Amino acid sequence: MVEILPSILSADFARLGEQIAALETAGCRMLHVDVMDGHFVPNITIGPPVVESLRKATRAILDVHLMIEDPDKYAPVFIEAGADQVSVHQEACRHLDRTLRMIRSEGAKAGVVINPGTPVATLEDVLDVADYVLIMSVNPGFGGQQFIPNALRKVRELAALRKERGLHFPIEIDGGIDLNTAPRVVAAGARILVAGNAIFGTSDPERATRELKARAMAALPVAPAR
Ligand code: DX5
Ligand code: ZN
Repeated sequence: MVEILPSILSADFARLGEQIAALETAGCRMLHVDVMDGHFVPNITIGPPVVESLRKATRAILDVHLMIEDPDKYAPVFIEAGADQVSVHQEACRHLDRTLRMIRSEGAKAGVVINPGTPVATLEDVLDVADYVLIMSVNPGFGGQQFIPNALRKVRELAALRKERGLHFPIEIDGGIDLNTAPRVVAAGARILVAGNAIFGTSDPERATRELKARAMAALPVAPAR
């Protein structure tokens, strides 16, 4: 199964409730929420009050992607606001293992993220305390950027490592996902696809989501016949 996660960063914030309801109709079970602080990344987005409002407006799983300097301080605040899963950047955490365990103990799923310039090998020692791993396929900060193909190699490397270690965490990918890149990342091993511009940059986000999902699902490996 592949999940398409609309990134609300590219939504029309004045019509957020309406747009989310339409996506739920299109079968979206998860939403991606980008939190940026103007320090870790050169952009500022939303804070806990918006997550609190989203929580009241939807039953979808809220996947909060923290692109902030001090994730230890704010992860519990976002969980309290209604985040179901929280991902933190390897590059922002001094004690990554501790941070991931803390997110779990606060009652959310813990995700770890790496930037395009960070090797997969830096995650080797935390893979058993992560509920999912997010590979950035653009440099974080903005929607609508071009996909960096090196992410495909990283997804494959991570999938191989997962197999070798007998682990089962899903691989999420974020940045530049569209009808062209979606099947490629699925073939590489990603199963949770974040998409902003490819959904909200169209005149019909609901239809764009369905098309993206169909294209992604078609790239799933066929199970061997018995
Ligand atoms: C980028 C964010 C992404 C962004 C993706 O820093 O983490 O979630 O919204 O947007 P697209 O799909 O437009 O690249
Ligand atoms: Zn994101």
